[in-house]
Amino acid sequence: MEFKQCKAIVTGAASGLGLAVTQRIIAAGGTVVMLDLDHERCADELILLGERAHFIATDVTSESGVDTALIKAHELMGEIRLVVNCAGIAPSRRVLARDGLISNAEFQQVIDINLNGSFNVCRAVVNLMQNNNPAGKDEERGLLINTASIAAFEGQIGQAAYAASKGGIASMTLPLAREFARLGIRVMTIAPGIFETPMFDQLPQEAREALAANTPYPKRLGQPDEFAALVQHIVENPMLNGSTIRLDGALRMGQK
Ligand SMILES: NC(=O)c1ccc[n+]([C@@H]2O[C@H](COP(=O)([O-])OP(=O)(O)OC[C@H]3O[C@@H](n4cnc5c(N)ncnc54)[C@H](O)[C@@H]3O)[C@@H](O)[C@H]2O)c1
Repeated sequence: MEFKQCKAIVTGAASGLGLAVTQRIIAAGGTVVMLDLDHERCADELILLGERAHFIATDVTSESGVDTALIKAHELMGEIRLVVNCAGIAPSRRVLARDGLISNAEFQQVIDINLNGSFNVCRAVVNLMQNNNPAGKDEERGLLINTASIAAFEGQIGQAAYAASKGGIASMTLPLAREFARLGIRVMTIAPGIFETPMFDQLPQEAREALAANTPYPKRLGQPDEFAALVQHIVENPMLNGSTIRLDGALRMGQK
């Protein structure tokens, strides 16, 4: 699929990885409808991004909210060819925490936003994408890219909910790709290591340095545009389908 001038939905687009993907698509002449909770930050970014960036305040966990936002986005752009799901949260909490036992509600909230939220957007968008005209020699109609984490494979202590949510995203990649293959719609997942985004703003400098030192090569945190560069490659390479790509400088997380 052509990356240039593509028409995309990016969730979690107000910050971090989602913002970097939005910036890269806009720089390539594309159009993006940004979905995020964060109105203020989005309003600031919209001014910088220019007229091909639009924002619709959306909670990805709301079925009716996502349906409405995608219908609006479809009207705005005429079609949706690409979805990049970056909305997510990464709380860390032990089951047997010092301040008490974790509640099911805390576990459920992470699953709701990270896993159900990603599925919710895929579900609604594929319903619109199936009507796109087939494009290019492979007659492609669209592409869904979800964001997991290396915690899907080596979650640390305190990451039971986060790891489960990201494992779910990795696991649904193949069945979705198999189901949508007849429509010419691909599904891929990126599992990042540690990237320098506002998600880790609260992390002390010492902890950041330790994480960077644990990364075999390059010995640093990932930059959001390196994530966006992989998104671009996946868009342009039609053989990438139904799998999860680690983007982590060979980092393998320890127990804690
Ligand atoms: N930064 C990393 O090192 C890293 C590593 C592995 C995976 N990830 C994953 O990448 C994704 C993006 O992370 P990031 O680092 O850019 O984080 P970030 O905190 O900078 O951005 C996440 C965005 O998601 C939005 N969001 C949260 N809940 C939402 C909801 N219910 N509906 C709509 N939007 C919502 C937030 O408002 C925010 O703008 C997340 O899924 C995260 O788990 C990040």
